[in-house]
Amino acid sequence: MESLISLVNRLQRACTALGDNGEDNALPTLWDALPSIAVVGGQSSGKSSVLESIVGKDFLPRGSGIVTRRPLVLQLHRIDEGREYAEFGHLPRKSVPIYLSIYSPYVVNLTLVDLPGLTKVAVEGQPESIVHDIENMVRSYIEKPNCIILAISPANQDLATSDAIKISREVDPKGERTFGVLTKIDLMDKGTDAVDILEGKAYKLQFPWIGVVNRSQADINKNVDMIAARRREREYFAQTPEYKHLGHRMGSEHLGKVMSKHLESVIKSRIPGLQSLINKTIIELESESSRLGRPVATDAGGKLYMIMEIVRIFDGIFKEHLDGVRSGGDK
Ligand code: GDP
Ligand code: NA
Ligand code: MG
Repeated sequence: MESLISLVNRLQRACTALGDNGEDNALPTLWDALPSIAVVGGQSSGKSSVLESIVGKDFLPRGSGIVTRRPLVLQLHRIDEGREYAEFGHLPRKSVPIYLSIYSPYVVNLTLVDLPGLTKVAVEGQPESIVHDIENMVRSYIEKPNCIILAISPANQDLATSDAIKISREVDPKGERTFGVLTKIDLMDKGTDAVDILEGKAYKLQFPWIGVVNRSQADINKNVDMIAARRREREYFAQTPEYKHLGHRMGSEHLGKVMSKHLESVIKSRIPGLQSLINKTIIELESESSRLGRPVATDAGGKLYMIMEIVRIFDGIFKEHLDGVRSGGDK
C-alpha cells in the first residue's frame, strides 16, 4: 500500500512540474483527481502545529505572531535511505501557493496543504476584502472532492463558532472527508473538558474528533523538540483522568495513522477512475499529435511530449496496481 501512495505522490509531482502548460487542460484534471490533506481553521488555531506533528518535523512557520498568507503545498516523499532534504518548487504563472517537497526516510508519502487562517475582521492596514479573499482561497482548496479536510478547532473556544467547522460543512455537508481536530485541550478553563466532544456526544461529525496537545508558545520559545512533545502529549492523554479511557485514539501519532489509513482507502477506491482519466489523457494527446501532423516531441519546448511520456509511464504502473487490486494482491 505504501508504494501506491508513493506512486500517487510521483504523479502529483509530475503534474505540479508541468502545471503551467497554458492551453492544455488535461493535467489539472489529473491533479484534481488525486487526494491531498488540507488544514483549515482560524488564525492561531494550531493548523501549522498539527501539520508538523503529522509530519513529525519542525519546518513550518509557527507561532502566535506568525500568519501564513499563502497556501503552502507540502509534498512528503519517503526515501529508503540517505539524508533528508527539501526542495522548493513554483509554478511561474500561477505562483500563489508555495510548493515544498520533503524527502526523508522518516515520513509517510503524503501531500499536505497549510492554508491561511480564517479571520473574522481585517486588521489595521489590511483591505476590508481580506476576510472574504482568504475564505474564498481556502474554499477553492477544500471544495475539491479529493481534498481531505482537517478542521482545526481550538478546545478553548466555543465549537459553535468554529470557522473550520462552518466552512467544512459548507463544502462537505455529509462529513465524508472532514476530520475534526481539537487542539489546545491543555488550555481549557479549569473545570471544563472536551470529553463530550471526543466521545462523540456533542458536535458529532461523521468521523470521531481527535484531540491533540501541541507545543505551546513557551515550548516553541524553549525549542522543545518533536519527540519530547509527542511523549508529553502521550502522557497527557494517558494520565489525565478525564481522557484516560480515550487515550488510544487521541494525539498526533494517532491522527497521523488515521490519515494514512484514510488516504490509502481513498486512493484504492480511485484507481479505476484514475486509470480511465489517464487513458482519456493519452487519447487526447494522441489526437493533438495527429492534429499537429507531427510528433509532439517537436512541439514548442517539447512539453506535450514530456507530458505524454509521464502519462505513459504512470499508465504502466497504474495497470500493475489495478491488476493487483483486481486480484486482491496489492499488499
Ligand atoms: P496556526 O496559526 O493555526 O498555524 O497556529 P500555530 O500552529 O502557529 O499555533 C499558534 C499558537 O498556538 C502557537 O503559539 C502554538 O504554540 C500554540 N498552540 C497550538 N496548538 C496548541 C496546543 O495544543 N496547546 C498549546 N498549549 N498551545 C498550542
Ligand atoms: Na500562527
Ligand atoms: Mg500557520
